[in-house]
Amino acid sequence: MSRTDIRNHPKFENVYISGPLENAKMYTKNLTPGQNVYGEKLVEYKGIEFREWDPYRSKLAALISENPITNFLSPDAKFLYLGAGSGTTISHLSDIAENGLIYGVEFAERSIRQLIQNTSNRKNIIPILGDARFPESYAKSIYTGIDCIYQDVAQPNQAHIAIANSNYYLKKEGMAIVALKSQSIDSVSKPEKVYKNEKEILEAGGYKLVESINIHKYAANHLILIIKRNIT
Ligand SMILES: C[S@@+](CC[C@H](N)C(=O)[O-])C[C@H]1O[C@@H](n2cnc3c(N)ncnc32)[C@H](O)[C@@H]1O
Repeated sequence: MSRTDIRNHPKFENVYISGPLENAKMYTKNLTPGQNVYGEKLVEYKGIEFREWDPYRSKLAALISENPITNFLSPDAKFLYLGAGSGTTISHLSDIAENGLIYGVEFAERSIRQLIQNTSNRKNIIPILGDARFPESYAKSIYTGIDCIYQDVAQPNQAHIAIANSNYYLKKEGMAIVALKSQSIDSVSKPEKVYKNEKEILEAGGYKLVESINIHKYAANHLILIIKRNIT
């Protein structure tokens, strides 16, 4: 374990940084001290243990590194995480939402087994073996309203999945963060064309685009959309 100077992120509560803001290293405070989840570095500062959060390994970290205007994180929020994988990003969200709850939906049995193994000590993660294309199929496992949906599924119909889940679970004023991977939607067309089409589907589905953030610097062919219900 090494030492470094760590301070609060100027905008996102429970996110921490070291170094100059424009080129900062990011961290979350470890909810389960002494344990790392996927080999990430543990760093101690003033008696607190932090987990390094690498934007090249986590699209949520990449999004925060790109300084979005919208603040979508809160320590008390209830999240629905679609495409939870084996626990990399969801474990950092668990550090951030220390008083909240995260339902993690994943359809690959191998990944969900690893997710359970990697995060069993984290009481605010509820792993769900489910298919994000069919939100009603996991309704029995989700027993609170959702403040924020985070979606990172490598699927062709990403906008439709976001709409279906948001219609089903998202609170009226809630937000959805949708990581679009153009290659999974259409590997032939130019990413810009794919993104435009997905945005149009979301708008036609009753959602407005709050922000659109390109994270190509960290993850090739990925754009992150922040959307809300269009209720005006
Ligand atoms: C890019 S990986 C997710 C990585 C994870 N978000 C992280 O940062 O730690 C995409 C995940 O979505 C899952 N996935 C793809 N389609 C899905 C679906 N229809 N329902 C649930 N999970 C799905 C895959 O099995 C895979 O684990």
